[in-house]
Amino acid sequence: MPLTTPRELFVHELSDAMSAEQQILKMLPELQEEALNHELKEALKTHEQETQQQVKNIQEVFRQLGEKPEATTCYAVKGLSEEHKAIHKEKPSPEILEMANLGGAAKTEHYEMAMYTGLVQMAKDLGEPDAAQLLQDNLDQEKAMAVRVETLARELGKLQTQSMMAGARGGRK
Ligand SMILES: [Fe+2]
Ligand SMILES: [Fe+2]
Repeated sequence: MPLTTPRELFVHELSDAMSAEQQILKMLPELQEEALNHELKEALKTHEQETQQQVKNIQEVFRQLGEKPEATTCYAVKGLSEEHKAIHKEKPSPEILEMANLGGAAKTEHYEMAMYTGLVQMAKDLGEPDAAQLLQDNLDQEKAMAVRVETLARELGKLQTQSMMAGARGGRK
């Protein structure tokens, strides 16, 4: 069916967001297993629960609109998932894999932030304030998670670099 109205585009974008969240739900358990840092593991576990709620919020938006999600694939998140697989092919050490995963998580959260920022605006423009609020709730969780992973990426990145440099100095003695 050709897309000709902003509302149809909104339904398409919302379906895409549903696909994004469902793919992310599949990735989160593996990221939890690969996390060495306790705080990161916990943050990923909490975000898995948040993501389940985000899916429910999207379903509620569909219900409010009287629409059904289209079968569609979010290729952006599919690509981020492929990036994760590609890192594994480089045979990273567990510590380096964790750093790469933090970078991947930050990229994913920023994609989700852009996705929900757009959806909130579209819902407002279409005169759907309740839908806009549900999508805003999802956006707020993505923003908080982005801060969490970026903070951990900075801390763990610094620690890894310091211990590597200490190792190199030790090696020269
Ligand atoms: Fe999400
Ligand atoms: Fe997220």
